Amino acid sequence: MRLVAEAFAKVNRSLLVLGRRPDGFHELDTVFQAVGLTDRLVFEESDALTLRVDDPSVPAGPENLVLRAARLLADEAGVKARAAIDLEKRIPSGGGLGGGSSDAAVTLLGLSALWGLDAPLETLAEVGAGLGSDVPFFLFGGTAHGTGRGERIAPLPDMPAKGVVLVMPPFPAATPEVFRRLGAPAWDGRRSDAGRDLPDRNDLEPAAEALFPPLRAVREALANAGAEQARLSGSGSTVFGLFPDLAAAAEAARRLDGLPVGSAIRVVPTWTREECRSRSGPRRSE
Ligand code: C5P
Repeated sequence: MRLVAEAFAKVNRSLLVLGRRPDGFHELDTVFQAVGLTDRLVFEESDALTLRVDDPSVPAGPENLVLRAARLLADEAGVKARAAIDLEKRIPSGGGLGGGSSDAAVTLLGLSALWGLDAPLETLAEVGAGLGSDVPFFLFGGTAHGTGRGERIAPLPDMPAKGVVLVMPPFPAATPEVFRRLGAPAWDGRRSDAGRDLPDRNDLEPAAEALFPPLRAVREALANAGAEQARLSGSGSTVFGLFPDLAAAAEAARRLDGLPVGSAIRVVPTWTREECRSRSGPRRSE
């Protein structure tokens, strides 16, 4: 059997850091939005567990989230971890777009199908949360509210389709470094309803812009080009601009200036939950 699936990216429309927790993570209140920039994964039956990645800058060893997802799922299900996995990277690593987490989520879906496990989504979300805070979101997609480390997901109604300009600078941003720079106080245990109201805010932005000063010019370039919202995604380094539709986003992308040399620009649509589920669900292929 040979299965193919697409791993989509996300941006954070809102990201509040409520404080540092005793376990070293930060308590978050965030709104995730799926976007149509994708990696492609192929899963084939095999005697061993192997991973081939087309991008030489992405480590393909046991630390790769795809292989960690495969091993963890096999352990949880009590089966042998056997599959030949092929990964085509288009979502940059260290970009704040959740690429590695999305690859892990699609691996859980793909191998659950390849191994005939029929695991419910809730079980996969629990396994996924052990791999990374963003992984459960990628099992749901669309628009969703994330709390806890970001791993507790409550789906929200799909937002109207928008055009998104992604500006991906040529340098990655390491998430732990950005959180450290933020220097958030200890969490007092209070929650917030703010995520549901979608404040146009990313609490990691000032810390990321202090570490990587050119990010601020990117955000300003998108705002000057008429973006309804221009924000850092997650801990960066991608900055996104939201536009009424794809044509407006493409037009704005042509007019951007002052970007760091070597930045990649992509114009992509937002994806609804249904689009995410149909594209990231594994399909048989010959
Ligand atoms: O969960 P994930 O592996 O993606 O987290 C990577 C790192 O980002 C953590 O080790 C931690 O330093 C930081 N992080 C955090 N609070 C979160 C999520 C991530 O401090 N809610």
